[in-house]
Amino acid sequence: MTQQYQITLLPGDGIGPEIMTVAVEVLKVVGEQSGVSFRFQEALIGGAAIDAKGEPLPPETLEICMKSDAVLLAAIGGYKWDSLPRHLRPETGLLGLRAGLKLFANLRPAKILPQLMDASSLKREVVEGVDIMVVRELTGGIYFGQPRGIFTTETGEKRGVNTMAYTEAEIDRIGRIAFETARKRHKKLCSVDKANVLEVSQLWRDRMNALASDYPDVELSHMYVDNAAMQLVRTPRQFDTIVTSNLFGDILSDEAAMLTGSIGMLPSASLGASAPGVFEPVHGSAPDIAGQDKANPLATVLSAAMMLRYGLNQPNAADRIEQAVLKVLDQDYRTGDIMSEGMTLLGCQAMGDALIQVIREG
Ligand code: IPM
Ligand code: MG
Repeated sequence: MTQQYQITLLPGDGIGPEIMTVAVEVLKVVGEQSGVSFRFQEALIGGAAIDAKGEPLPPETLEICMKSDAVLLAAIGGYKWDSLPRHLRPETGLLGLRAGLKLFANLRPAKILPQLMDASSLKREVVEGVDIMVVRELTGGIYFGQPRGIFTTETGEKRGVNTMAYTEAEIDRIGRIAFETARKRHKKLCSVDKANVLEVSQLWRDRMNALASDYPDVELSHMYVDNAAMQLVRTPRQFDTIVTSNLFGDILSDEAAMLTGSIGMLPSASLGASAPGVFEPVHGSAPDIAGQDKANPLATVLSAAMMLRYGLNQPNAADRIEQAVLKVLDQDYRTGDIMSEGMTLLGCQAMGDALIQVIREG
């Protein structure tokens, strides 16, 4: 029997629409082969939504997302909307989507692909074999803590305030996701905090230690965030799964992504306690190359694979996509961002065609 899923597509801005087109074509073909079919519905987010509806996350978009089984998002933002007030910025739409769908867990894999090892700015012997999963808390911490704002003091001076806060329950639920993620990988979990300075981090560390007794098969360690930033470029292979708060995870996941040298290849998954999750590439909307058929669609295609694996529980279909990506790289096909000597340069759509051919050949 064919399993049918309702998928919301949020193409967004910049290169978003082009890379989304490729991901949808790939999903259709893989679906046919795996006995899975999709009903796709597009909705507006980011700059595209600001232009059409005057706000970055129109209520109908959130509603459509809530009614679907999973959400695939391409990219948001661009120069055009950069000077708008905060509540009208594309980023605010993305933060609203995360909060609205209660997506507290963000999984960001950073895996070195042998075919792209020389794309890293670090030495081959440092990055070889790197395979890290950053589990970032996504709906709490300093991104959402109250009070926040720019206030005027009694002396008439302005004072900017943000608050880093976590409750035990917020820490526990991301902690459990992280332990379970580590359990499916190499069973090593490193919790990153700033417990030498911050009380919120002390609580974070205490809770991770408490949870550890439920996961005796997972080896838990702790690291201060400044040291973690250093260790990530010194000996990245020491890490398997990292769990950390929203802001630290924002920073460390970019650092981990850059170890691979190809941010255009990296997918992510944002999950809540129940469906739907949001699946999106780690990279941005690249407005400088938008509409020129130069973008790398592979991170969005791999995000579609994460959607199948983590959002829809269709691991076989996910495997097919991931295998196809490795195969086109083995065939020496490259988009501009990962191009190197002797390889064949393809545009966005042609990369999609190559993927589909590989998938059809099985
Ligand atoms: C990310 C981005 C977002 C974040 C921005 C666009 C709000 O940097 O997904 O990492 O800070 O979470
Ligand atoms: Mg970021």
